[in-house]
Amino acid sequence: MDGEPRLVKTSPPTTRVTTSVCLAANYLRAGGVVALPTETVYGLGADAMNAKAVRAIFRAKGRPSDNPLIVHLTDMALVDRVARRIPASAEKLMAAFFPGPLTVIVPNHRDLPLEVTAGLDTVGIRCPGHPVAAAFLTACGTPVAAPSANRSGRPSPTSWSAVVEEMDGRIPCILKGGAARVGLESTVVDCTTARPLVLRQGGVTVEALREVIPSIRLVSAATSGDEPARSPGMKYRHYAPKPTVVLVENAAEIPKHRSGVRWGFIGCTDEGIRAKPDRACLVPEVPTYAQKLFHFFRVCERAGVQVIYCQKVPERGLGRALMDRLQRAASDHPTHSAT
Ligand code: TXA
Ligand code: MG
Repeated sequence: MDGEPRLVKTSPPTTRVTTSVCLAANYLRAGGVVALPTETVYGLGADAMNAKAVRAIFRAKGRPSDNPLIVHLTDMALVDRVARRIPASAEKLMAAFFPGPLTVIVPNHRDLPLEVTAGLDTVGIRCPGHPVAAAFLTACGTPVAAPSANRSGRPSPTSWSAVVEEMDGRIPCILKGGAARVGLESTVVDCTTARPLVLRQGGVTVEALREVIPSIRLVSAATSGDEPARSPGMKYRHYAPKPTVVLVENAAEIPKHRSGVRWGFIGCTDEGIRAKPDRACLVPEVPTYAQKLFHFFRVCERAGVQVIYCQKVPERGLGRALMDRLQRAASDHPTHSAT
């Protein structure tokens, strides 16, 4: 056989899908990237103290390296390993909302790898309120850096099968849990300024935050563009499925389509709708809408839908976070021209 090229067999890397918290924690402790369920969306976790492991998250997601990661923990003794100090406002918010869908931004500890914070001098800390996430974090025994488990720019996964769609062959292990209860990402609050600032609306409502800290401020769409260093992730294209997303006040606004155009509708009422959509999701109220939105985007993608009409909701309570995601997914959103 001399001189003949040798056939090298290369099988695609495989991703192990498991319900075993111990097995998943072993992968993570060995420096691997593990997808984990949380109550907001699925995350892509790695040991936050291991720079090489954290770099693998950025590769798996195709995420720009200037976008920092949130550190997840359940054991509050680990906070001192990632934070330099905890401002009083963060202390209050953590006492009120941990475990739960909230991330507080606080000054970072110098030992935390630069890769986690993208070179900023702050770090986001979150204690998820999902029993499988809590058991996993306890078994890991280390702070876990984790962004949402989607490829960069795509909708966050809210089920383990959506993580398989995004990450199969790119990471060693997916820890299986049920569908995410909240369905939208955590609320991110910067606690490093005298008056804390909500950088991203999410699972904890602004009304609930204000009961604890009445002076809390919101980053408005108009100012967020001027504050790129405060909230690096918000400048990137987000949450967008492949079909075009169009927001409507009500279903009666949906135009008549040429035959052959496949379209979908999600909203609280389809009153006035003029034709039957190819895919529809009627939701009784805003929390169910939030829980189902990203899943519905994927259902429509798989069905070859070209346009998804999404009914707007009032901007109060969880409706603010939902409207934020709908606007970012909508095809006329300015970040759609960003990379
Ligand atoms: O619900 C969630 O928060 C999920 C689950 C997995 O925990 N995680 C998540 O991570 O949504 P990610 O990376 O997809 O979004 C985190 C957002 C990004 O916009 C990022 O720029 C911002 O938080 N962020 C993280 N650390 C920050 C920091 N130190 N300062 C300002 N913004 C930060
Ligand atoms: Mg994300």
